Amino acid sequence: MTTLEFARERAEPMPAEQREELLRMPGFGSLYSDHMVTARWTAERGWHDARTQPLAEFSLHPATMAFHYGQTIFEGLKAFWRPAGQHVLFRPRDHAARFARSARRMAMPELPEADFLAAVEAVLRVDAAWVPPARGHSFYLRPFMIAAETHLSNRPAEEYLFAVIGSPARPAAAEPAPIRLWASPEYVRAADGGTGTIKCGGNYGGSYVAQREAAERGCHQVAWLDPRERRYVEEAGGSNLFFVEGDRLVTPPLSGTLLAGVTRDSILRLAGRLGLTVAEEPVALEDWERGCREGRITETFACGTARALAPVGHAVTPDREWAIGDGTTGPVTRRLLTALLDVQYGDAPDEFGWLHAVTPRRE
Ligand code: COI
Repeated sequence: MTTLEFARERAEPMPAEQREELLRMPGFGSLYSDHMVTARWTAERGWHDARTQPLAEFSLHPATMAFHYGQTIFEGLKAFWRPAGQHVLFRPRDHAARFARSARRMAMPELPEADFLAAVEAVLRVDAAWVPPARGHSFYLRPFMIAAETHLSNRPAEEYLFAVIGSPARPAAAEPAPIRLWASPEYVRAADGGTGTIKCGGNYGGSYVAQREAAERGCHQVAWLDPRERRYVEEAGGSNLFFVEGDRLVTPPLSGTLLAGVTRDSILRLAGRLGLTVAEEPVALEDWERGCREGRITETFACGTARALAPVGHAVTPDREWAIGDGTTGPVTRRLLTALLDVQYGDAPDEFGWLHAVTPRRE
């Protein structure tokens, strides 16, 4: 049951011609649609003051707790264009559930699933014209929550701000360029009992020093090793990892330090339909290298909501480098990406009930 009522204030929409020009090649994360949703939470009132309003800056006191102690969480989910006007959200309930898990771990108030859905639907309805129509393009929705209380005490805030913004996003390329991964010997992304399983801002901010090191080594992202032995490959940047070995598709298990990616879960299910055997097993860095050198591991790819699937062409450590397959996109990666995009764009049946249709608001 939705508990929040969304008050509506219309933005002056961007002229259609200008918007359509921008939508031709939207990039990622730098264009925003005309509206946003916001809601507030206080200990006395719970969730309240929900509104759909023109996208605008927030005015926040310098002592706002989110600036100091990092109580911030977010989600990222995609909507896809449909010719009949109804657009679809991909697995929004799974994103709502993860947002609630993130909130619990960060001692923040949970937003009920129905309110999460109503909020992302509200942005999609009012800004339906911002959903790019081309296959591969999408409308990326970014729900987030921050500690909004003005205070310098080191404790959970008693006021929060939730918001959803929308951003038209570049195509998930049918032939994405292979990436190079840097296995960082020094840094870890997450530790047992830490926050690695959720989407809080600190997980990302804490990873940038290693990402910069990767860039200095000519790599696109970090291959994160497990925090206990620095032996098992767990994630790639902010994405999950898969390894192709014959007709087996292997991904590291949700050991307590990995993010349970919605795309990861989608790939595991689609793989079964494509006749692959799936296994959630730890993959040691040395076994990955040996498997590639001996020709047993023929493909590796990263996956996440924003990027969909990204083939890994090379892995780099301080003293070694190896190619995965011939360093280009492999056939299994290509088939899985096509299978995912086919469901998202309505070119294949939605066998798992992942799509959630939303009808635009007509004024
Ligand atoms: C996503 O794939 O939605 C992510 O969270 C990646 C984001 C950090 C750009």
